[in-house]
Amino acid sequence: GGPGLADAFGRRFRYLRLSVTEVCNFRCTYCLPDGYRKLGPARFLTVEEVRRLVAAFARLGIGKVRLTGGEPTVRRDIEALIAGVAATPGIGKVALTTNGWNLRRHVAAWRAAGLTHLNVSVDDLDRARFAAITGGDRLPAVLAGIDAALDTGMPAVKLNSVLLADRAEPSFERFAAFVRDRPITARFIELMRTADNAAYFAANHVPGDRLRVWLDAQGWTPLPRLPDGGPATDYAHPDHRGRIGLIAPYASGFCDGCNRLRVTARGRLRLCLFGSGDIDLRRFLADGQEAALAARIRLALTGKAAGHRLHQGDTGDLRQLAQLGG
Ligand code: GTP
Ligand code: 5AD
Ligand code: SF4
Repeated sequence: GGPGLADAFGRRFRYLRLSVTEVCNFRCTYCLPDGYRKLGPARFLTVEEVRRLVAAFARLGIGKVRLTGGEPTVRRDIEALIAGVAATPGIGKVALTTNGWNLRRHVAAWRAAGLTHLNVSVDDLDRARFAAITGGDRLPAVLAGIDAALDTGMPAVKLNSVLLADRAEPSFERFAAFVRDRPITARFIELMRTADNAAYFAANHVPGDRLRVWLDAQGWTPLPRLPDGGPATDYAHPDHRGRIGLIAPYASGFCDGCNRLRVTARGRLRLCLFGSGDIDLRRFLADGQEAALAARIRLALTGKAAGHRLHQGDTGDLRQLAQLGG
């Protein structure tokens, strides 16, 4: 009951990104340039805590929950987490962002548990480049996992590739070929600066214009952004079944349509990926705290900033995206 969640700028929130672990089994160069940063003993939200948390957000109008990490599928109870979210009244979309390593073996079970939207990080479709970026020769296994996901009839499958300076156009061509006959959206993401990757960022960041110019020359046309849509601008091509997308967080106006909230694996509400500070919700996940939890979330929303300050060189207090799942 009650009106949905909105902030002081009139933005409405129907989408929760929930990290379920800080641990990752890959070592992508752009994300963990100095390795994995340990944040103290790992006591991540339990299945029961996730159910209570998601139920509260659903009563506040959230209809889509994306599970992220670290790498969410390193949790042994990931299937129970998916099932718990999917069973929550009001939640119609259950999404997962994964590196794809565990897909081939488990995606059918996750689909059966209620998974509807799947995003897989595939930084390059060239096997050697993939290994160099992610730290392991695992592209064939990941691609087999993606085809297994399509075989389950998963309603939406997207790929994420971080734009890196030294491998732009050949990589665009490989992804375009990949989506020629697959109903998949391959998205390129501008590399984002975090506190831990400043030197890597300076050497590797390329603006999304490099992709826009290429798409235009190849006959891809941008589709209008949907009101409840995500951060990507998608492009279509008459000869391709799938699409290509661009996530350009440095573009002006990017944050104006922000429609997402985040909760860390330790149950802390985070209002912006590049903000500072967070709010402990875990203490409201015991019995009889439902009203206090909802009130705390509503109050917190009034403090959400207009947008990130990456242009001013302010990355906030997040050291690595792996701490929050992007
Ligand atoms: P859908 O739109 O639901 O498919 O999800 P998504 O694209 O937001 O999810 P995904 O987890 O695949 O994230 C893809 C990339 O977008 C990651 O690098 C995220 O960090 C980035 N991203 C997602 N939301 C935001 C946002 O609000 N701000 C910024 N700066 N980056 C975001
Ligand atoms: N900049 C842009 N994208 C990033 N990701 C991780 N770190 C960064 C960064 N610094 C991406 C991963 C994954 C998604 C969840 O976030 O590649 O696809
Ligand atoms: Fe929203 Fe912050 Fe991302 Fe901007 S950077 S879109 S305000 S989460």
